[in-house]
Amino acid sequence: MFKITIAGTGYVGLVTGVCLAEVGHKVTCVDVDEEKVNLMKKGISPIYEADLEELMRRNYNAGRITFTTDYKKAYKDADAIFIGVGTPELPDGSANLTYIATVARQIAESVEKDCLVVVKSTVPVGTNDKVEQFIKDFLVNDVKVEVASNPEFLAQGSAVHDTFCASRIIIGTESKWAEEMLKKIYEPFNIPIVSVNRRSAEMIKYACNNFLAMKISFMNDIANLCELVGADIEDVVKGMSYDERIGCKYLNAGIGFGGSCLPKDTKALEYLARQYGYELRTVKSAIEVNKEQKTLLFKKACRRLITFSGLKVAVLGLTFKPGTDDIREAPSLDNVPLLLDHGADIYAYDPVGINNFMKRYPEGQHGAGRITYVDNPEEALKDANVCFIFTEWKEIKTIEPAQYRKLMRTPLVYDGRNIYKVEDMSREGVEYYSVGRPGRPVKGFNGMY
Ligand code: UDX
Repeated sequence: MFKITIAGTGYVGLVTGVCLAEVGHKVTCVDVDEEKVNLMKKGISPIYEADLEELMRRNYNAGRITFTTDYKKAYKDADAIFIGVGTPELPDGSANLTYIATVARQIAESVEKDCLVVVKSTVPVGTNDKVEQFIKDFLVNDVKVEVASNPEFLAQGSAVHDTFCASRIIIGTESKWAEEMLKKIYEPFNIPIVSVNRRSAEMIKYACNNFLAMKISFMNDIANLCELVGADIEDVVKGMSYDERIGCKYLNAGIGFGGSCLPKDTKALEYLARQYGYELRTVKSAIEVNKEQKTLLFKKACRRLITFSGLKVAVLGLTFKPGTDDIREAPSLDNVPLLLDHGADIYAYDPVGINNFMKRYPEGQHGAGRITYVDNPEEALKDANVCFIFTEWKEIKTIEPAQYRKLMRTPLVYDGRNIYKVEDMSREGVEYYSVGRPGRPVKGFNGMY
């Protein structure tokens, strides 16, 4: 059992802290946000994530996990300090390392015994060398501090499951001491450990996320071509997935990737390469395809309709994927402003994402358009002229095709997640457009573009 402090209680930090407590370590989670800390002390998770709140409460009640804003106390006698703070994107695409630097400085000024600093945040290759040097430069007490890289691979919506059932744990260390300590910390998880050097560990994380992003963009590219040549992307995927070298996961074409990781990590790796004078052409293309993909359906709708002004537009799904309330880089954020600019009267539904979306787009008038939030998909669809599907929530997937015809004024649906079978929608008389599949042909160009 180790005394572990976690810096940052976002998706990475909190899930890691709770899971480390669950296997028996004594965990303290530090966050600067007092409101968040008070919520967690009351047993309320500040983020929506399956199984997290229950596990957090259980370990809190068992005294294995505590929450505090007092970093000095939390860092001073920890065996290991895990850093899980954000590395958001800066306007130039590079990763913002301010939060990492702040924590590193606080660690240097607080630790009173030998300690391993484990960086879980996604950081550009070479950052952890600098973090170690930075801590050493500011160290107040005569103690040993080493930095290890331990990138996180959890996906939002299944974060707890992903932590306990991970395919591997990557540890990047520069000494036997650090390697052995991390191996012992993770022993109870019984998951294969891949031990490499620090820079390789940092690169593994970027390579994985960038590869996944490229896989999605590749499929979206092929899907767009399928539409032009009369092939069906679903059938193409079926055929591809039998090839074990390709695999059957992450092949879903749609409205592009979003979230807090893939968009940011593709840009950060491309930026890093550029810093070294190298052009990462594959990743650059993946970013480009993704940007276009997000508004493809909107553009299709523009070709079909004269105007959005005066039309009731149902928007189903606001989060970047199901199972999370996170709207970062969600396709809804690319499309809602466009629809508002074009005068749409939006009725938006999402089972958990409305609160976050409302912070960006409060209910009411926005320029030429309006947005209203509703509690169920039926209310959004009632008398609507057009429907856009942006997230494949269960609550949305289970809407029967007939409902669109029954509820909407004109059953015209643009589906960014390929939820329905084209035949089912067409049998029910729904004019249905999705991605990479034969839909109702759009003749000519008679829209607003
Ligand atoms: C991702 C990685 O999966 C995870 O390993 C890493 O630690 C963090 O980034 P996450 O951002 O939570 O996790 O979501 P993920 O499930 O990977 O989906 C990312 C985006 O890609 C979503 O917008 C999703 O809708 C989209 N996606 C995913 C597709 O468009 N098609 C697919 O086949 C898979």
